[in-house]
Amino acid sequence: MSKLVVANWKMNPHSIGEAVELATNSDVAGLIICPPFIFINSVGDSIKNAVLGSQDVFWETAGAYTGEVSATQLQNLGAKYVIIGHSERRQNLGETDEMIAKKIKAVIDVGLKPILCVGETKSEHDSGQTKAVIERELKTGLSYLIDSEINQLDIVIAYEPIWAIGTGVPDVPADTVEITKFIKKTIHAINSSLNAKIIYGGSVTSINADDFLKNQDIDGALVGGASLKSDEIKKIVAIAKNY
Ligand code: PGA
Repeated sequence: MSKLVVANWKMNPHSIGEAVELATNSDVAGLIICPPFIFINSVGDSIKNAVLGSQDVFWETAGAYTGEVSATQLQNLGAKYVIIGHSERRQNLGETDEMIAKKIKAVIDVGLKPILCVGETKSEHDSGQTKAVIERELKTGLSYLIDSEINQLDIVIAYEPIWAIGTGVPDVPADTVEITKFIKKTIHAINSSLNAKIIYGGSVTSINADDFLKNQDIDGALVGGASLKSDEIKKIVAIAKNY
């Protein structure tokens, strides 16, 4: 099974020219590039091997929703994946599990693949609440998919411990493996027709990527900071291809 590497550019870079340059230089098979909305069109036109994704979506299809972007609009731009529920959106923009559940449904309804982000804060981690937090985020986030007649749906879950994001301090790979197993078990209990790839995100670089990707239970990586350097992200994709 091939592993996924997702580049989350966040609110970078500054201009279309820089976005096109970064996309062109990072354009390798096995990579999903998620630029800011404003660069999705140009990045989509610039890549031939990588796959296009988005960092967010709105849950309605069309209408009076100032500033929002629908799943259909993303699909028409060629996006295949959508990151949903990133902790930076949960923390800075008040995104709730309920909003996330609606976004997951909207994305699945048009045939795009959601990348649902889950993960605990430092204090939740230190007080042993990691699994409880993740279970709540999964159960609520996937709540619209519980009773439906879903048949073999593919989703991606990104385990992103919040304390590991952008800090240079990644999770301990053995702990990540334990959490990925827990996520798989929890998803199966929610809906046995869901096929989930479980990827890890949080300070992944070309130096530590192998420690995560060599594990059978970790299906890929979600990369923020290191995805802004094309040499780095290409090295990470090359590591992923070894497994
Ligand atoms: P990071 O970000 O790789 O810069 O830690 C990961 C993420 O937030 O997706």
